[in-house]
Amino acid sequence: MDKDILILAIESSCDETAASVVKNGRQVLSNVISSQIALHTIYGGVVPEIASRKHIEKINQVIEQALAEAKVSLEEIDAIGVTYGPGLVGALLVGVAEAKAIAYAAKKPLIGVHHIEGHVSANFIQHPELEPPFICLIVSGGHTHLVVVKDYGEFEILGRTRDDAAGEAFDKVARAIGLGYPGGPKIDKAAKEGNRHAIEFPRAKVGDSPYDFSFSGLKSAVLNYINHEKMMGNEISVPDVAASFQNAVVDSLVTRAIAAAKEYGYKKLALAGGVASNTALRAGMDESCKKENIQLYYPSPILCTDNAAMIGCAAYYEYQKGNRSCWDLNAVPNLKLGER
Ligand code: KG4
Ligand code: ZN
Repeated sequence: MDKDILILAIESSCDETAASVVKNGRQVLSNVISSQIALHTIYGGVVPEIASRKHIEKINQVIEQALAEAKVSLEEIDAIGVTYGPGLVGALLVGVAEAKAIAYAAKKPLIGVHHIEGHVSANFIQHPELEPPFICLIVSGGHTHLVVVKDYGEFEILGRTRDDAAGEAFDKVARAIGLGYPGGPKIDKAAKEGNRHAIEFPRAKVGDSPYDFSFSGLKSAVLNYINHEKMMGNEISVPDVAASFQNAVVDSLVTRAIAAAKEYGYKKLALAGGVASNTALRAGMDESCKKENIQLYYPSPILCTDNAAMIGCAAYYEYQKGNRSCWDLNAVPNLKLGER
């Protein structure tokens, strides 16, 4: 039997300082996440400078805890995987510098990982039987992509957002209706008490590209609705606005993902990224996939939002392909999907 491959993975692209030990790509031995959410909540969003400082404070203890919980010593690790983009440059730099220092000192290979490849890989951890190719809808705070996962780390982009990412729209609308940060989970919760057909918000079509998304028009429509109701002296129902907005987002995500799966002939569809934990999105996708006889995959909520286990999984497949990073690996805040 082949030797087990152990990856120590580090993730610090936004507001979670995370480290994980992953065995043979899909077995998570530890998954430590130190979240800064409480810290940023008072500012209504992530403050990049605070995020970087907090990562520096936390990263060593998070890594030590990940190794301890996995009961693995640094000597036993085969490679160090780290997110090097996209994300906040200062936040990414903390993880990249740390990974380089550990890899250099412990004489281990270094593997730079694309954050979005990590999000997609969370599905491999959750579903041991899942293998490419399949269609994947990646919906996070910074990204909205519809892709074909052709092989491990190989993507064909079918569509992307033209303006706001899906998660960004959730966060902005949540702020507008007074739910605060982080908006996604709060809208998800409030919407459960509301009527999703109460307000008819627009579903944007992007003329020349059937699989591109646009959420800024929807966001403006919500803001206009709130202002109009206020002007008329009417009280707005937060649950109804949340449910109707969420329904419009879910509609445009589901329609395009299902259409792509059908057009390209895939029977497997996966969701990835923070918004993939949205309960209405999961339910909507579930219903449509059943109708179309498509197998749906999504990670558990803890693997949807930022974590290092997904980075460890992606790093493993890069390791198997022989991909290694050099000592000049740098943070790339706007790294494109499919670039290395
Ligand atoms: O993937 P992620 O943790 O970070 C990025 O790479 O961006 O995604 C964070 C985003 C935030 O915009 C957050 O509001 C959204 O995911 N999110 C949700 C839910 N949980 C997190 N959006 C809708 N419903 C949720 N339950
Ligand atoms: Zn993310």
